[in-house]
Amino acid sequence: MVTTPLLPSDYLDLVSPLRAGADLRGRIEAVHPETADAATVVIRPGRGWRGHTAGQYVRIGVDVDGVRLWRAYSLTSPTNRKDGRVTITVKAIPDGKVSNHLVRRATPGTLIQLDQPTGDFVLPQAKPAKVLYLTAGSGITPVMGMLRDTSFDDAVMVHCARQPHDVIFRNELHDLVADKKLRLTEVHTDTDGMLDIARLDELVPDWAERETWACGPAGLLDAAEEHWTEHGVQERLHTERFRPSIVVAGDGGEVTFSTTGKTVDADGATPLLDVGEEAGVLMPSGCRMGICFGCVTPLKAGAVRDLRTGEITEAEPGVLIQTCVSAAAGPCDIER
Ligand SMILES: Cc1cc2nc3c(=O)[nH]c(=O)nc-3n(C[C@H](O)[C@H](O)[C@H](O)COP(=O)(O)OP(=O)(O)OC[C@H]3O[C@@H](n4cnc5c(N)ncnc54)[C@H](O)[C@@H]3O)c2cc1C
Ligand code: FES
Repeated sequence: MVTTPLLPSDYLDLVSPLRAGADLRGRIEAVHPETADAATVVIRPGRGWRGHTAGQYVRIGVDVDGVRLWRAYSLTSPTNRKDGRVTITVKAIPDGKVSNHLVRRATPGTLIQLDQPTGDFVLPQAKPAKVLYLTAGSGITPVMGMLRDTSFDDAVMVHCARQPHDVIFRNELHDLVADKKLRLTEVHTDTDGMLDIARLDELVPDWAERETWACGPAGLLDAAEEHWTEHGVQERLHTERFRPSIVVAGDGGEVTFSTTGKTVDADGATPLLDVGEEAGVLMPSGCRMGICFGCVTPLKAGAVRDLRTGEITEAEPGVLIQTCVSAAAGPCDIER
């Protein structure tokens, strides 16, 4: 009664936001530039943090211009870091709300929301004899988490970036090469062109024998999945995607968020999650790529298209849609 309308925990949050039992939060303790558009954010997680396995990601909630936005970032710190802190490494993308905020504006002392780490892009218990890491751009981040954690007798990396100075963690990678812990081929796409996956025969002749972890843009991962499947070794390829592959876009339509009372025009390629957030509607979200079901919302009327498959879902009582991978397929009403 004394603290109404706030809860006692709201006051505790002011003095001890990272305490055990509080909603899981983290405090940004440092931001280290890595390249012109990427930075490593050092986070001290609160007491409830359960720790991660190399290669996993964490969802963080960041307040950007007064709006809480959630995004996923791979953990780049080793799992046994003595000081208990963890790192994520973020690449600012054009018009990216959270990535630009973290790389260019985040300051030490800022509190962020955290989820427990998750993800199955991890190394197996039994060490494979030969490993290939196939990465591009910010796709190096989960693999860096692995490299900092586990070394293999025979590890090869093929990494693509526009130019040498765009390679995130370049010095550390070259140190691993000097210590004979890694063989590295850098593909600089500004001068070498995009990696043609068929070039693997020349760059890593025994690629098909290697347990492979690949992370990068959809084009690279699609090509890799096709290539590994063609050669009958798809079970050796493990991929991590930062965005869903959008295969089908439709015509769009007028979207009503009936609970909030907002109506906006949406094209047939933009996920309803983005449409709602852009319109100022409070939209639940998680991975933003169709994995976690953190965004499911009732479809009250109309139809939506699954951007990954093109499949149309029509409104019926009880129908739920994943707003992060669904776009308007004509006029529709989303219960938010
Ligand atoms: C499992 C997982 C792990 C991830 N790990 C990392 C990581 O370690 N480092 C990292 O930098 N990012 C990582 N990401 C991507 C990250 O979650 C965000 O998607 C990214 O930072 C863009 O968010 P934003 O708010 O800046 O962009 P938004 O404001 O959401 O989007 C701005 C524009 O960019 C487009 N866009 C959104 N995401 C991407 C993308 N990834 N690439 C290109 N265009 C995009 C949007 O369609 C939109 O047009 C990961 C994503 C997942 C699902
Ligand atoms: S946010 Fe994870 S499935 Fe939509």
